[in-house]
Amino acid sequence: APAWRLRPRADVSAVPSPVRVALLGCGTVGSAVARRLQDRQERYAELLGRSLELVGVAVRDRSLPREGVDPVLLTTDAEALVRQADVVVEVMGGIEPARSLIETALRGGAQVVTANKQLVAQQGEGLAAVAAEQGVGLDYEGAVMAAVPVLAVLRDSLAGDEVTAVRGVVNGSTNYVLDLVAREGVAFGEAVRQAGELGYLEADPTEDLEGLDAAAKAVILARTAFGAQVGLDEVDRVGITGLTDEDFKRAAQEGTVIKLVASARRAGCGAQVAVRPEALPAHDPLAAVRGGTNIVVIEAVSAGELRLQGAGAGGEETASAVLGDIVRAARRVR
Ligand code: HSE
Repeated sequence: APAWRLRPRADVSAVPSPVRVALLGCGTVGSAVARRLQDRQERYAELLGRSLELVGVAVRDRSLPREGVDPVLLTTDAEALVRQADVVVEVMGGIEPARSLIETALRGGAQVVTANKQLVAQQGEGLAAVAAEQGVGLDYEGAVMAAVPVLAVLRDSLAGDEVTAVRGVVNGSTNYVLDLVAREGVAFGEAVRQAGELGYLEADPTEDLEGLDAAAKAVILARTAFGAQVGLDEVDRVGITGLTDEDFKRAAQEGTVIKLVASARRAGCGAQVAVRPEALPAHDPLAAVRGGTNIVVIEAVSAGELRLQGAGAGGEETASAVLGDIVRAARRVR
């Protein structure tokens, strides 16, 4: 028989189709995600047994250059892009249009990944209900503590335990400011100015300085740890703007360190959530974290005390968490 007859017929159905990924937003985090999806193509294909294909990147303005991102992928039609994807990744920030686009994606049967902490804190429960109804996933590891995989630990690793409390330094911007004052002796107002100049503060600096960013993260931590439904307005919140040079002087004299502490404690079937500056003794694990580093201390009945620490901000670091969620989401795509 001719050789071609002996060859097995190519089974087209055996070649799994690529997982189509749509990216909404191409700022610091989005562009890092796009570049890594490109660089690590082979790695992800091996991991998943099928490729991850970035099908488009929704942006507001196509004319702005995005380093390392193929310009042909850029589109201003986010709605149309969402409808083409198996996995929709929202890294645009803000409440709208992010919320509507995520809802459209979930209702269309796509898996959704987001790093949008304010959106998840304020609207996460409603969106999670839509995801559950549709039988799809909604993951947001990147929304809390960037590269530090705290939500996975609380949700998965400790699922069989009982978490009783979570306490941490979860806002790197204020930690940077507090560090400048306490360690370098920079005046408080000047430290805020320097942090802003270096781009370490959110576009709206009150997000950081008034503890709103930390409160959003604390709400998400409480929900993940205890299943507690706590509104942002229920957080007992004090920012760092009320601190005076006098407070820092007193802390130095007492041998304590002022940190913006976020905490969540189980209380009945809910949780008590707080964000406030505290003067911590030097032996407290929270006292030692420097600059943009974040730390969280988890207490669980069987596990005891666990500490997770690492980069709490940054494009590449947040992309680490987002990419982890993308791989998780891609595994669910049939
Ligand atoms: N401003 C935030 C912080 C950025 O400092 O933690 C990361 O959420």
